[in-house]
Amino acid sequence: MVDYKYKILIVTNESRLAAEIKSQLNEAHYQVSLAKNVTEGLALLAKESHALVISNCQLPDLNDFQFFDVIQHHYPALPFVIIKAEATIAEAVSAIRKGVTDFLSYPTDRAFVCNTIQQAIDENTRTHAKKTKDSSWREGIFTRSTQMEHLISQAKLVAETDASILIQGDSGTGKELLAHAIHQVSPRKNGPFVAINCGAMPEALLESELFGHAKGAFTGAVNAHKGLFQSAEGGTILLDEIGDMPTLLQVKLLRVLQERTIRPVGSNESIPINVRVISATHRNLIEEMKEKRFREDLYYRVNVVCLSIPSLAERREDIPLIASNLLQTLCKRYKRKLSGFAPEAMQLLTTAPWPGNVRQLQNIVEQIVVLATTPIVTAASVQKALHDDIAPVMPFDAARKAFERDYLINLLTMTSGNVAQSAHLAQRHRTEFYKLLDRHELTPAMFKENSENA
Ligand SMILES: Nc1ncnc2c1ncn2[C@@H]1O[C@H](COP(=O)(O)OP(=O)(O)OP(=O)(O)O)[C@@H](O)[C@H]1O
Ligand SMILES: [Mg+2]
Repeated sequence: MVDYKYKILIVTNESRLAAEIKSQLNEAHYQVSLAKNVTEGLALLAKESHALVISNCQLPDLNDFQFFDVIQHHYPALPFVIIKAEATIAEAVSAIRKGVTDFLSYPTDRAFVCNTIQQAIDENTRTHAKKTKDSSWREGIFTRSTQMEHLISQAKLVAETDASILIQGDSGTGKELLAHAIHQVSPRKNGPFVAINCGAMPEALLESELFGHAKGAFTGAVNAHKGLFQSAEGGTILLDEIGDMPTLLQVKLLRVLQERTIRPVGSNESIPINVRVISATHRNLIEEMKEKRFREDLYYRVNVVCLSIPSLAERREDIPLIASNLLQTLCKRYKRKLSGFAPEAMQLLTTAPWPGNVRQLQNIVEQIVVLATTPIVTAASVQKALHDDIAPVMPFDAARKAFERDYLINLLTMTSGNVAQSAHLAQRHRTEFYKLLDRHELTPAMFKENSENA
C-alpha cells in the first residue's frame, strides 16, 4: 500500500460530511485535520503545513467562495477542492473559473475522491517544481563563488517551509537582497514583502511601526495605525538589524512569534497573523547574548535556520562579475559609454580590502562612472575612487602613512623643495628628514621651482 503521508485539511461544519471524507481519506493513508469554521481552519494551516484544503464552502463565518478567496490570499499555492451535495455543472464550472482546483459532487465514492485529491496535489507539486527551477527569483544575486551557491541552494530549500530564518553578514554583503530572494522563491511570493530596520528608531516608535496602534493610544495618535506585521499578512517580514532591537521590545516580539498574534499599542484586541519572519543582523548574536543585550529565548525563535553570507573579501571571485554588471547598469542610468575595465583597473578592484562589501563596491563603480572621461575604466580612476572612498576607514598604520606623505608634500611645496627649511619647520634633524623623504619616495627636486616635475 502506498503511504502518501500528505496532510489534508477538511473545513466544514457538516459533521457527517467531514466524518465520511475523513474516513475515506484515512483509508487511503492521507492524514486529515478537521476544522468547523474559517478561524479554526486558518489556525490549523498556520500551525502546520497541509498539502490541500477541502471545503463545502458553506461555513457559518464565511459563505460561498469567500472562504476560497481567504485561503487563496493567505496561501496562494495551496490546492483547494470544493465538495458539495448534489452540485450542478454550472456551479462546478464557475468554481473552476474562479481558480478552485477541483469540484466534487457529494455523495461520491472513495476512489473518486482520492483520485481527485491526488491529482490536485501532483499537479501543484509539478507547477511548483517548475517555478522553482526557474531562476528569476535570484536574478539580482551575481555570484561565481561555490560558497555563495551553496548558501543560495540552502536558502531555496528553507524558503519552501515557513521556518524562521536568521541572515548574518557584515554590512553591505547582501542580507536584504537574499531575504527578498527567499520571499520570491517561497510559496508566499504573491504576498507582500515588508522590511523594517529595527535599529533605526526609538523603542516606542518601533513598537507602533511593528504592531500598529489604536486611535488615541498616545498623544498624537489621531488615527488608528496598521502595523507592519499586519501589512505583511500572507507574506514575509524582514526584521533587519534585529541585533539592535531594544530589549523590552524583544520580549514583545518573542510573544508575537510564540502566539502568532499581535496586539496594537493601546488596544486590547489580539489579531492573528500569518507572516513568515526573516531576521538579519551584522552583529554576532551569540556575543550579544553573552553581554545580555539579546535575549536567548528570542535568539532560538528567530534562528531556526541560520544563513551566513561571506564578506566580499572572502569571495573575491565575485568582484569582476559584480563590478562588470554594475558598470553596465550604471552606464545606462547615467547615459555614459564605458566598454569595460582595463585589466590593471580590474586587478585593483579585485585586490582592494572592501570593508563595506558589495555596497561599497557599488559606490566605487558609481563614482567611476560619474567621473569617467575615458571610454574604458582606467587603473588611475579606480585608484582615485578607492582612495577617496577608503580613506576614512583606513587602518591606523595606513592612515598615518598617508598623513605623513601629505604633510611632507605640503612642507616641500611651501619651501619649494628646500630640505633645511622644511626640516626646521617640522622640528626634525636634516638626516631624519631625509630618511622620511626616502621612506615616502619623495625627492626635493620634485618641488624645486623650474623643475620639470614642479
Ligand atoms: N551578489 C550580489 N550581486 C549583485 N548585487 C548585490 C549582491 N549582493 C549585494 N548586492 C547589492 O549591494 C547592495 C547592498 O545589499 P543589501 O542591502 O542587501 O546588503 P545588506 O547586507 O542588507 O547591507 P546593510 O548592512 O547596508 O543593510 C544592494 O544594492 C544589493 O542589491
Ligand atoms: Mg540591510
